[in-house]
Parts: sequence; C-alpha cells; structure tokens
Amino acid sequence: MILRQPLRYLSRCKNFERFLKVNPWARRAASRFVAGESRDEALRVAAELNREGFKVTLDYLGEEVTRSEEARLAAEEQAAAVEAAAVAKLDLGLSVKLSHLGVLIDEGLAEENLRMICQRAAAAGRFVRVDMEGSNLTSGTLAMVQRVHEDLPVIGTVIQSALKRSSADIETLNRRGISVRLVKGAYLEPSDLAFQRREEITLYFMRLTESLFRDGYRPAIATHEDLLIDYAIDMAFIYGRAPEEFEFQMLYGIRRDLQEKLRDQGYRVRIYLPYGSDWYGYFMRRLAERPANLWFLLRHLRN
Ligand code: FDA
Repeated sequence: MILRQPLRYLSRCKNFERFLKVNPWARRAASRFVAGESRDEALRVAAELNREGFKVTLDYLGEEVTRSEEARLAAEEQAAAVEAAAVAKLDLGLSVKLSHLGVLIDEGLAEENLRMICQRAAAAGRFVRVDMEGSNLTSGTLAMVQRVHEDLPVIGTVIQSALKRSSADIETLNRRGISVRLVKGAYLEPSDLAFQRREEITLYFMRLTESLFRDGYRPAIATHEDLLIDYAIDMAFIYGRAPEEFEFQMLYGIRRDLQEKLRDQGYRVRIYLPYGSDWYGYFMRRLAERPANLWFLLRHLRN
C-alpha cells in the first residue's frame, strides 16, 4: 500500500509529532488504541479487560530516550505499575522497550533498568516481555534478554517475521526455553535484512509458528490476521499443545471481534494495552499498518 512507507517515516518525524500531540482531536483519535495517559486509567481499562476474560500486557509508552534520568524514571514507572497491578490482583504482565530503558545511551544502564523491573515483576509474580524494535537493536536485545533470563526467568521477547534472521533466532530462544511473541514487525527495514512483500512475511510467519509450536516455550502468536491464527490453531493440534500452553495476543482497539471469538472458543487472549503521554510513535505505526485508519484520524481532525 502506497501510504505505508510515508506513514512509517512520519512516525519518526519530530515536527509532525509536535503538531499532532497538541491537537485535541488527534488525541481523541489516538484513544482508540491507547488506554489513557495515566497509570490509573490504564489499570482501570486492564481490570475491565480482565473481567471480560482477557489477559493484559501493559505498555508504558515511550522509546528512544536520550537522557539517563528519563530512562530511570520510565523504568521506575513500569516497575511501580506492575506492583500496583499485582496488588489489585490483575492478570497482567509488562511489555517494555530497551530504547525506553536507555539502551541508546548506554547498554549497561538499560540492563540495570531491565533487571530492576524483572526483579520487582518476579516478586509480584508477573512476566516481562521485551518488545522488539528496529533491526539496529535486534542482536543487542536478544543478547540482553538471554543474560537476564539466566538469573530472572520471568522474561521473554519478540521475534519479527519480517526479518530474515528470525528462524535462527527462534531456534536459539527455543533451546534456552525463552518465551517468544511472534509478530510480523512494525519497522521500516532494508531489503538485505527484511522481506518487503506481504506474502513473504506471512509465509515466513507460518514457518516460525511451526518452529514455536514444535520446540518453543509458551508461544505467543501476535497477529490480527485470520489465516495466521487458523494456522497456529492447526499447529497447536498437530504438536499436541493444549490451549493453556500458548496464547494469542492482539493490540487494544484492533479486531475486537476476533479477540472475543477466540476467547469464546476457549483460547487464551492477551491484549497489548499501551498508556502514557508519549503515544505518537505507537499511534503512527498503527496508522501505517492500516492506512484506512488515516481517514479515521482525518475525520477527527476535521470535526
Ligand atoms: P495485518 O497488518 O495484515 O492485519 C491483519 C488485519 O488486522 C487487517 O486486515 C485489519 O483488519 C486488522 N488490523 C491490523 N492492524 C490494524 C490497525 N493498525 N488498525 C486497524 N486494523 C488493523 N511489532 C514489532 O515490530 N515489535 C513488537 O514488539 C511488536 N509487538 C506487538 C505486540 C502485539 C500483541 C501485537 C498484536 C503486535 C505487535 N507488533 C510488534 C506489531 C506487529 O509487528 C504488526 O505490525 C501488527 O500486529 C499488524 O500486523 P498483523 O499481523 O496484525 O497483520
């Protein structure tokens, strides 16, 4: 789709971000995908989703921070949020991004922050998943997750089927018993590293799904595409995986019909629930995935 690349480009454009973030209509449009700006709002929505039979992974929005203090504050917010969720007895884990924890400033700082979050999540009996960002961070993220997992096995990560390296990465994670969330990949990547055609990304997703159901620990299949969900259900059958041994994950505000259908069929469904004031990059990636959403934004901007 012709609008996809410009939207992905805009997701990193600071001037457009400044324009959209002060626009109340854009904020209203973003609220379709984001629980709210505060932790309390997010936990309220999480409680509602739990009541409806969905699990939650909470994402405190933010990425590519450039100041150590900002990274420390972000880590503290995430640890405090998971503790608050445990006190409220919510069925909720965390999704974190290493660039939010300061990896672009200093890898040691990000690892320190990640370990602190995992220690507090472990004490609260909760799971932490490290999201996968652009391909410049793939190797570092996988290495850090493996190091932290040795001491704190409450951590998992994400593999993108757009990246050609992913089959080897999944084998490594499977061998180490690290849980993988499989996604297509939301970042613009060069053709030497990543498949560019939708069909190739979908086919590779299927191949990786099979590898996860055959050898993986607690696979999470994160897609809204019916074909890939049906394929995962077939793989679960073929490899004898009971519904409580894997889960489907979907984004808040997307394919609600499918979320409910899978839940009603007895599958575990976890909703990725973002919150925080730094919603711009996340929101723009959701527009890029489905440029038809652009009309939804424009409608709000006009009203
Ligand atoms: P696809 O984009 O083909 O969508 C299938 C159908 O779903 C569409 O036809 C439409 O009906 C609906 N749909 C999908 N996106 C929509 C949207 N934005 N608005 C409205 N409808 C939409 N990526 C990454 O690089 N790193 C990560 O860590 C994560 N983490 C993550 C967690 C979870 C729980 C999910 C579901 C996704 C991610 N992603 C991600 C994003 C992922 O890489 C991918 O960009 C999106 O999931 C969209 O791809 P689909 O597989 O849903 O297929």
